[in-house]
This record gives sequence, C-alpha cells and structure tokens, in this order.
Amino acid sequence: MNSQERLTLDRPQVVVNEVGPRDGLQSQSRILSIEERVALIDSLLAAGVRDIEAGAFVSPKAVPAMAGTAAVLEQIDLGAARFSVLVPNVYGYELARDAGAECVAMVAYATERMATENAKMSREQALKATETMLAKSEVDGLKVIVTIAVAFECPFEGVVEHDIVVRTCDRLFNAGASLVVLADTIGAANPATVEALLERLLGQFDSAHVACHFHDTRALALANVYAALNCGIRRFDASIAGLGGCPFAPGAKGNVATEDIVMMLQAMGFETGINLRKLIDASDFAEEATGSARGGRSKSWLKPHLLKHTAS
Ligand code: COA
Ligand code: ZN
Repeated sequence: MNSQERLTLDRPQVVVNEVGPRDGLQSQSRILSIEERVALIDSLLAAGVRDIEAGAFVSPKAVPAMAGTAAVLEQIDLGAARFSVLVPNVYGYELARDAGAECVAMVAYATERMATENAKMSREQALKATETMLAKSEVDGLKVIVTIAVAFECPFEGVVEHDIVVRTCDRLFNAGASLVVLADTIGAANPATVEALLERLLGQFDSAHVACHFHDTRALALANVYAALNCGIRRFDASIAGLGGCPFAPGAKGNVATEDIVMMLQAMGFETGINLRKLIDASDFAEEATGSARGGRSKSWLKPHLLKHTAS
C-alpha cells in the first residue's frame, strides 16, 4: 500500500447513495429510454459511485418514467455496485426480487396524507407491508432499506412531530430494518430541525443505521448535510446534477446534487471513493439527457477547476 492509499483509508468514510436514476428521473418531463437510464448508471459507476438506486418497481401508470426497471437491471453489471430499487408495496418487492435486485428501498410515511397520496395506503398499511417485506427478505436473502418520507414536514399536514419519527424508527428497527433513511421529501428542513430530530433519534438508535435524504428546495440541503454530519450521520442520498422532485409531493425540488455533496465532503477531509472529475461527466450526461437538470450549484466552478488540475 502506498502512502496515498494509506492516507485515503485513514480518512473517515461517508457513503453517498446516488438516487438520480430513480428520485431524479421520476419527475422529469422527458422520459429517458432504458439505454439512456443504463448509460447514466454506467457514467456514475465510471466515477466510482458504488451505492446507486437504479430505478423503481412502481405502477407504470403512477410513474411512467420508472417503467422498464427490470430491463435496466438486466443491462447493468449488478456486481459493480450496491444497487437498490424503490418499491411502494409487497408486489413491488416481489417484482424486484424476481428481477434480480439484491436490495429494495421501501417507503414508510410520517403522515397519513402522504401515504395516501404516494401509495394509496394508510401509514399503518405501509408499515405492515414493510414488516412483511422484512420477514420475506430473511428468506429471500435481500436487503431492505426503509425511507421515512416527509420525516420533517409534509406538504399536506405541515410540520411533523419528532415523536412520530422516533416511534416509526423504533417499529422498523424492531422488525429487523438495518437502515432507515430520514427523507426531507419537500426540502423544508433546516440545520436546527435536523439537529433536533437527530439528537432525539441518535440518543436511542445507532447512527450507523440511519441515513439522510435532503431536497434542495430552499437551498438548505448542504447546510442540512453539514448538520447531520456533525450529529454523526455518515450516509446521504444525493442526485446527480441535482435532478429530482416527487410528483406526489407538491413543491418538492431536486435532491442535493451529488457533485455538490462530494465536493463538500472531500474538502472537509471525508473519503467518498468518488472521482469528482468523472462525476462531472455523469452530471453533464444527466443534463443533456433530461434537458432540464440544473447541474450542481458548484459545477460552474468545479468544471474549469478540475480541468485545469487534470491538464497540469
Ligand atoms: N409495480 C408495478 N405495478 C404495480 C405495483 C408495483 N409495485 N403495484 C401495483 N401495481 C399495478 C397493479 O398490478 C395494477 O395494474 P393494472 O391496472 O394493470 O391491473 C395497478 O398497478 C393498480 O394497482 P392497485 O393496487 O390498485 O394500485 P393503486 O392504483 O392503488 O396504486 C401504487 C398504488 C402504490 C401501485 C401506486 O400509487 C404507485 O406505484 N405509487 C408509486 C409512487 C412513487 O413511486 N412515488 C415516488 C417515490 S416516494
Ligand atoms: Zn426524494
């Protein structure tokens, strides 16, 4: 091992889970072909991204952009990364399993209205479906990640009580979940609310089993990542080129851009395993393919800066 490799290993690691191919693409006006979705994933792999939400097994009527996720899984190298796929119900879990997925990301909800709008279920039905999935996954050998949607604020019911999130986590961990993702679905959290919720949660649960998912609607996603990092969180969802938004949550804008979060983490001395220069290629591809992605806010600085350093 050379000194550079040793230095890299010594740095604290943060996992950046790329959700652009799912959260990012689901609300774009242009629907990408299977080949384009695969090319986007390949460009992320080339940049060293090793945790990727590759698509969703949802009703193609509800989310046309995610139709054909089985074909996407068929065409990517499933051994090249830790791939997950979003599922809203047990039927989606079964489709994902049968298509060769090794990890599913199920959605639970902090509010009733969000559960109904997103999955036409009650909160309790979604939790019961998650428990069924967790039990099945023991037999099937799949991993289940559970995202709690609207963990901070709901577009229909307003600010969410911390107690609801704590109780939901408690139930999910008791049912065997190994990772719970707190999603700020509409980008309404701020560093103080992130800190307050995480202080409550991490007093009870191990930070290794909790991740965060921030949308940048109010330009606070990076600030929220920083607050969560300070609380001990070491896994974040992000979306290449800042793609994203939820078609069922009015006002939701894109996720924190992968290039922005990776740049910040690297500057702070964290290791992500991701090559920023190649990540910019993936971001360019996402912008071109969708025609609407805005690109990370750091991109106009990053591009010439990285090119200069490559040339010298
Ligand atoms: N994957 C694919 N198709 C599914 C499905 C799944 N996970 N679950 C249900 N379907 C199909 C059914 O087979 C049925 O098909 P048909 O009309 O050809 O017979 C159709 O969807 C309706 O089934 P139903 O059980 O009545 O579902 P619904 O209309 O109540 O919709 C969901 C419920 C969950 C399937 C739908 O709202 C959905 O897919 N939501 C996903 C939302 C999402 O992805 N949000 C963003 C991420 S948080
Ligand atoms: Zn999201």
